[in-house]
Amino acid sequence: MPVIALANQKGGVAKTTTTISLGTVWASEGDRVLLVDCDPQAALTYSMGIDPEDLDVSLHDVLVGRASMTDVLWEAHGCHIAAATIDLAGSEAYLLTKTGREFALGRALRTVEDAYDVVLLDCPPSLGILTINALTAADEVIVPLQCEMLSLRGMNHLLETIEDVRSFTNPHLRLRGVVATMFDPRTNLGRQVLTNVTESFGLEVIGPPVRKSVRFAEAPAAGETIFQRAPKVPGAEAYREIARILRDWGPDAEAETETSPGALASEATTGERGETQAGQDDQAPQADVDLDLTREPEPAPVGPAPRT
Ligand SMILES: Nc1ncnc2c1ncn2[C@@H]1O[C@H](COP(=O)(O)OP(=O)(O)OP(=O)(O)O)[C@@H](O)[C@H]1O
Ligand SMILES: [Mg+2]
Repeated sequence: MPVIALANQKGGVAKTTTTISLGTVWASEGDRVLLVDCDPQAALTYSMGIDPEDLDVSLHDVLVGRASMTDVLWEAHGCHIAAATIDLAGSEAYLLTKTGREFALGRALRTVEDAYDVVLLDCPPSLGILTINALTAADEVIVPLQCEMLSLRGMNHLLETIEDVRSFTNPHLRLRGVVATMFDPRTNLGRQVLTNVTESFGLEVIGPPVRKSVRFAEAPAAGETIFQRAPKVPGAEAYREIARILRDWGPDAEAETETSPGALASEATTGERGETQAGQDDQAPQADVDLDLTREPEPAPVGPAPRT
């Protein structure tokens, strides 16, 4: 079960959008997916149709030892979600006083890990204790990177933090690469940023860049994933391709992990990509997870279902 952290201390670079997009692609293909909202802003929780304001317990209660992971799980769009609320901001202060604070999330995840094929950790836009917990619990980290001029500022700090985590709390952490987000093929800027990230930082850009589309902002507001809202926009297509490249678990893994080094160049120069892949199912099936959830699935953005 790979645990993958989506991290970048820069705000608004599509960490949450990437988490949801990858998770819902894999869930639609039958993988058992857990998305963990590690951000007190709770955007992932909200985008998955669960209103944080209606929640009595959240990941915060898990991190401070008042609840178990199964107490904070919800189900939507075929994924399970460990929900956050603004209370999670209090975890930072609580954990700072505790020995072993970096390991709180990892310990909690171990109680449910057998139920999932993949776990995605949506980090907050900081390098504080919540992000350190996510990096400590993760096997891999992926950096969503917005294709704009200032996006590489702070990259050194992020890489240093990853190095520190490797030295002190998680020697196995692998930096998988960058997912290039909000790409605009009409400008040279995005291409320059991607060249710099490869040449200056030695990071792999995973698959094609994800093109800008207003549909990404519309989808959560409508209670939909991008694959339901606008399955044919190039950005949705790019996320499917990135998910295919990253998927290296399960019996079909070897055939699925072939990378496509030409993808960036062709996307950047040819503009509009083709149609969506055949067989993509807009309705993600429910993940077959062996957990006794206490709540009903809730795909709509109107708050959680009543407890059963
Ligand atoms: N490819 C895209 N094209 C256009 N807008 C996008 C794209 N991807 C994400 N967005 C929008 O950009 C905004 C920021 O995205 P998102 O919340 O995923 O970023 P984030 O890195 O998680 O932010 P934060 O640092 O606050 O957690 C959202 O409104 C989202 O809908
Ligand atoms: Mg976010």
